[in-house]
Amino acid sequence: MKKIKYSEITPEIVYKKRRSFLKSLGYGLGSISLGSFSMINNSFANTNLNEPTSYEDITTYNNYYEFGTGKSDPYRKSQEFKTKPWTVRIEGEVETPIDLSMEEILSTFNSEERIQRLRCVEGWSMIIPWMGFSLSELLNKVKIKSAAKFVEFETVYDPEQMIGQRRPVLNWPYTEGLRLDEAMHPLTTVVTGLYGKTLPNQNGAPLRIFVPWKYGFKSAKAIVKIKLTKNMPVSSWMDASPREYGFYSNVNPKVNHPRWSQATERPINGDIFTPRIETLMFNGYGDEVAQLYSGMDLKKYF
Ligand code: MTE
Repeated sequence: MKKIKYSEITPEIVYKKRRSFLKSLGYGLGSISLGSFSMINNSFANTNLNEPTSYEDITTYNNYYEFGTGKSDPYRKSQEFKTKPWTVRIEGEVETPIDLSMEEILSTFNSEERIQRLRCVEGWSMIIPWMGFSLSELLNKVKIKSAAKFVEFETVYDPEQMIGQRRPVLNWPYTEGLRLDEAMHPLTTVVTGLYGKTLPNQNGAPLRIFVPWKYGFKSAKAIVKIKLTKNMPVSSWMDASPREYGFYSNVNPKVNHPRWSQATERPINGDIFTPRIETLMFNGYGDEVAQLYSGMDLKKYF
């Protein structure tokens, strides 16, 4: 397994600040383990805009329309959601489809701390210390046929437990999609935990993905199916409003949402007076991912 360097999973601006921040505390980078970062971050939570968002904010300010459209709905209404037993099916353009239990996934793949920025299309952002591993590792469990060009992710459909699914707010089940090369990029993460603990229901337990250079809605929660496809999937958001939500949805300060600017964002840190900051191209991950889009008109393919 290719071990991802900390600098690879953290946008440069966060990485550099953190480096000098740690140096000022007398921690040598060589000696510090990834696990120790969260401890340091906890004690200095929110004293610096580039520090991880607090556990409380990450777990009480959410988008998860299956549990309601309010920001506190997922926290309030998902606590009884049953995530055991859980199976993820990988199917479509593969030699042999497989069903993997959550236990198998957790014992097969090594989750590590990955601090990643989340930029929501609505204009707020967080820095989140997920636990996870690269989606490519999971996809390598199957033999992908050469016809496969895209990957579709499907959230569980269970209106008994997910009260938001009782109303046609979106075309349920929630689906999202990536191009195959985006899905295979080492930064595209299967998330199994948060702040070194089990993933809370409101953040997509037991398993979600996270794509740090794209708007947050590309990161589907509570995934039960991963399908390799020939054609570009139509995600729930594209289906709801194709003018507003494109397939790519890369974070791009130069391409506005039809109803608002995407040039700046509001860091969530419990203080509504925190000034907005500039949004970075590809959410700050340009060095790692820009080559995926070379030659593409990102205004057209938004
Ligand atoms: N996944 C599902 N199944 N349903 C959703 O409503 N919302 C998306 C994404 N994944 C959503 C989803 C949006 S809009 C965002 S910004 C992120 O989840 C939020 O993730 P977080 O609540 O863990 O911060």
